[in-house]
Amino acid sequence: MPEKRVFSSRLLSCLIAISMFFLILSCSLLFRIGDNAFVPRSIYKLIVVDQSIESRSNPCNDLCSESKQLKPVASCDPDQAVLKVFMYDLPPEFHFGLLGWTGKPNQIWPNVGNFSEIPKYPGGLNLQHSIEYWLTLDLLSSLTTSVPRSCTAVLVHNSSQADIVFVPFFSSLSYNRHSKVEGTGEKSTNDILQERLVEYLNGQDEWKRFGGKDHLIMAHHPNSMLIARWKLGSAMFVLADFGRYSDQIANIDKDVIAPYRHVVRTIDASNSPSFEQRPILVYFQGAIYRKDGGVIRQELYYLLKDEKDVHFTFGSAGGGGIRKASTGMAASKFCLNIAGDTPSSNRLFDAIVSHCVPVIISDEIELPYEDVLDYSKFSIFVPASDACKKGYLMNLLRGIKREKWTEMWENLKQIAPHFEYEYPSRPGDAVDMIWKMVSRKVSTLHYKARRKNRYNMSLQFLNSR
Ligand SMILES: *[C@@H]1O[C@H](CO)[C@@H](O)[C@H](O)[C@H]1NC(C)=O
Ligand SMILES: *[C@@H]1O[C@H](CO)[C@@H](O)[C@H](O)[C@H]1NC(C)=O
Ligand SMILES: *[C@@H]1O[C@H](CO)[C@@H](O)[C@H](O)[C@H]1NC(C)=O
Repeated sequence: MPEKRVFSSRLLSCLIAISMFFLILSCSLLFRIGDNAFVPRSIYKLIVVDQSIESRSNPCNDLCSESKQLKPVASCDPDQAVLKVFMYDLPPEFHFGLLGWTGKPNQIWPNVGNFSEIPKYPGGLNLQHSIEYWLTLDLLSSLTTSVPRSCTAVLVHNSSQADIVFVPFFSSLSYNRHSKVEGTGEKSTNDILQERLVEYLNGQDEWKRFGGKDHLIMAHHPNSMLIARWKLGSAMFVLADFGRYSDQIANIDKDVIAPYRHVVRTIDASNSPSFEQRPILVYFQGAIYRKDGGVIRQELYYLLKDEKDVHFTFGSAGGGGIRKASTGMAASKFCLNIAGDTPSSNRLFDAIVSHCVPVIISDEIELPYEDVLDYSKFSIFVPASDACKKGYLMNLLRGIKREKWTEMWENLKQIAPHFEYEYPSRPGDAVDMIWKMVSRKVSTLHYKARRKNRYNMSLQFLNSR
C-alpha cells in the first residue's frame, strides 16, 4: 500500500515537472523577442521583423519584381504633366558620384530603367535627408518607357518650356559624407562643391533669366549648403524647416518643406495595433539634452519620467535604437515630437508611419503639405509654454479616450502613404506630393511676377516714344 502511494506521488511529481518544463518553454518563446516583455506578443507579430535599414535604401523594393515583368509603358506627355522640369546635366561628382557611382566615360546619369544599375543611398540616419535622391531618380525615370510612374513631373530638354529648373546637387549627402577636410587640402569636398555650384549657376542663361527665382535647390539637411545658401537665396529651396535660415534666405512664401524620410519601419494599415494593443500611453526616445530650442526636452523629461505608462528615455540611432523605436512607437498611443536643436526631426514621420498619434511640442515647426493636409485631424499640437506646466500634458492625453483616439488613428492610416519616398514613385506618395507642392509655388511665382509687371507694357510704349 505505501509502496503504491510512493509510486503514484512520483508519477505525479514527474507529470508536474514535465508540464512545468512545457510551461516555461512556451513562456520563453512568447517573450523571447524584444526587451519590453510586458508588450503582448500580438504587437510583435505586426512588425515585420528583420528588414535592415541598408536593404531599404535600395530603391528596388517589392515593386521591382512587378515592374520588371511589366510591358514598357507609354512615356509621359509633358503637356499633361503638372510640372515641366528642366534639369542641369551637372557632372556626377555633384550627385550619383557621391554614392560611388561611375558610369561610362561621358555618362552623366545612371540608367534608371534597370533597377540593378541604380546606385544605393547609404542607410541609417543618412536616409532621413535622402529627398535629393528620390526626386532626381523620379525625374530621370520620366524619360524612360520601362518604369511605370505617375506623370506629375516630367523632364523637358528645352529650358524655355520648363516651369522650374532643377539643380541635381545631393547637398545633404555631401554634408554628411564630405564635410571633413581630407589630406593636405584646405577645404572639404562639401565646401568645394558648393563654390563650384555657385559659379556654375551664375554662368547659366537659365539662372540669369529670372535671377534664379525659378530654380529648385534641395538642402534638406539643416547644415547642407551652408556656404552656397547665401549666394543662391533667390531660388526655391526644399528644406526640413527654417530653423537655421534667415528670413530673407528662406521663408514659407517661396520655399517648400519636405518630410524627412522615416527611419522606423512602416506598419501595414491592415495590421496596425489598435487602442487596446498599444500599452504605452506616451512615447519619446531621443537625445534629452539639446542646445537651442531643445531645453524643453529636459523640462518635459523631469515632468514625465516617473509617470506610469510613459516611455521617456535617452536613445540614439546606434545600438539597435532604430529597431527599439520601431517597436516602441508601434506599442504606443501617443508619440512626442519635441523641438530639438532644430524645430523639426524625423521623429514626427516615424510616428506617422507607426500610426502613433503625434503630439507636437515645437512652436517653430513647419509641416510638409500643410496647405492641403489638415494635421489637426491626426495630431495634437501643444504650445511649449503649456506643455511645461505640471500635469498639463498628462491630463490632456489621458483625457483623449478610445473613440477620439481611434478617429485620429484611422486618419493616420490614410495619410501615412504621403510620407513614403518610393522609386518608382506612385500617385500620392512623398515624391508626388512634393512635385505638386512645387507646382503650387510656381503658380505663386508667376502670379507675383505678373502683378509686378502690370504696367510694363505702357512703360515700354512711353520709353519708345
Ligand atoms: C541590368 O543591369 C544588370 C547589372 O548591370 C545586368 O546584368 C542586366 O543584364 C541588366 N538588365 C537589362 C535588362 O539590361
Ligand atoms: C525652345 O523653346 C522655345 C519656346 O518654345 C523655342 O522658341 C526654341 O526654339 C526652343 N529651342 C530649341 C533648341 O528647341
Ligand atoms: C518689367 O519692369 C520691371 C521694372 O522696370 C523690370 O525689372 C522687369 O524686368 C520688366 N519685365 C519684363 C518682362 O519686361
